[in-house]
Amino acid sequence: MAATLQLCYGKTFKRPFAVAPPNSGYSPKPNPSRIIMCSASSQSKRRYTITLLPGDGIGPEIISVAKNVLNLTASLQGIDLSFQEMAVGGVALDLTGVSLPEETLSMAKQSDAVLLGAIGGYKWDANEKHLKPETGLLQLRAGLNVFANLRPATVLPQLVDASTLKKEVAEGVDIMVVRELTGGIYFGKPRGFGTDENGEEIGFNTEVYAGYEIDRIARVAFETARKRQGKLCSVDKANVLEASMLWRKRITAISSEYPDVELSHMYVDNAAMQLVRYPKQFDTMVTNNIFGDILSDEASMITGSIGMLPSASLGESGPGLFEPIHGSAPDIAGQDKANPLATVLSAAMLLRYGLGEEEAAKRIEAAVLDTLDRGFRTGDIYSSGTKLVGCKEMGEEVLKSVESRVPAAL
Ligand SMILES: NC(=O)c1ccc[n+]([C@@H]2O[C@H](COP(=O)([O-])OP(=O)(O)OC[C@H]3O[C@@H](n4cnc5c(N)ncnc54)[C@H](O)[C@@H]3O)[C@@H](O)[C@H]2O)c1
Repeated sequence: MAATLQLCYGKTFKRPFAVAPPNSGYSPKPNPSRIIMCSASSQSKRRYTITLLPGDGIGPEIISVAKNVLNLTASLQGIDLSFQEMAVGGVALDLTGVSLPEETLSMAKQSDAVLLGAIGGYKWDANEKHLKPETGLLQLRAGLNVFANLRPATVLPQLVDASTLKKEVAEGVDIMVVRELTGGIYFGKPRGFGTDENGEEIGFNTEVYAGYEIDRIARVAFETARKRQGKLCSVDKANVLEASMLWRKRITAISSEYPDVELSHMYVDNAAMQLVRYPKQFDTMVTNNIFGDILSDEASMITGSIGMLPSASLGESGPGLFEPIHGSAPDIAGQDKANPLATVLSAAMLLRYGLGEEEAAKRIEAAVLDTLDRGFRTGDIYSSGTKLVGCKEMGEEVLKSVESRVPAAL
């Protein structure tokens, strides 16, 4: 195995600032006072602890596949992985009465990376907010302080026909959505329920961003765009919202640090439209928490299935959180119908950006492409002439590809 240089804090790889999307070539700017250079292959043992959070619905099915893929890949690449499985979401609510037990957060913080399945389900839909599975997920993201969410939306040549858009519109789409994850209206205060001056019942939330929150996500986005096509589109609603006006001002100010990146601004309503009209115009997009939530789901549909898309959530230090962008799909849970590939690709992101194990990440990505090339499809990406398989069989086919197909670059 060729030696690869990694940026390390002491024993194990930690990100110095932020990480890159697949194929971005993004290299974070290290802080020399905190970082030493080391080589993955020069370490006699590369040992990592991964916290697995299967969660609810299809979560356990897809995490089981991803764990097997991680295990095999690690053993083939000389990596020693240990796993600790913890409860989060609805399953944790049922077990402990809270959706993010303290032990789960504490274990997650102590590990090298966290892989999450999905949370939520009909059973808990009517619960009060503090007793909802989703509350645990928001607490987990906040607890790990992962403020940057990178969501690639790439139309794979093998799946171009699965897109709901015309082939000529979808072909070649390769977008990276950089979403701010720990601020904005999902966390802003005041929030709650009350009564207005007319005695009418109201619910209210606050969209609020501090300058530093915008600056740090802006830098992640500029660094990402710099290593891709050098184009960054910042999405806001600066014609209406003060928080967006500040967003635009700070993003524009940070752009002076990146003269090589072409910055544009777009209102969110237009961005939603342009994503389905002419998605190829976008390279890297940066936006706030709520707009990013919606736009990245929209971008995902261009690629054919929400079941194919991974994500990485990263902070300035500490373990990253890696998860598919889809939810717990309660409509197909327990039926062996889930597409595990978004979680498998999230595991690849975990290896690359969470552990600095680039070659192992490439091995998984190559295996996924090989499995698709061999014609295997779960229901969500099925088209005539391909082989329909369930979640488990898809996982077994990926394992075969991990074993047999070593990417040329290795
Ligand atoms: N990060 C998360 O854990 C997360 C994200 C979104 C929604 N949720 C929760 O998930 C639950 C269901 O939400 P939803 O229905 O809006 O979104 P969803 O993503 O779970 O499902 C939307 C549709 O996509 C399908 N789908 C999703 N993932 C799939 C996969 N891997 N393979 C095949 N098909 C897949 C589902 O069957 C469904 O038809 C809710 O409780 C919601 O709060 C959790």
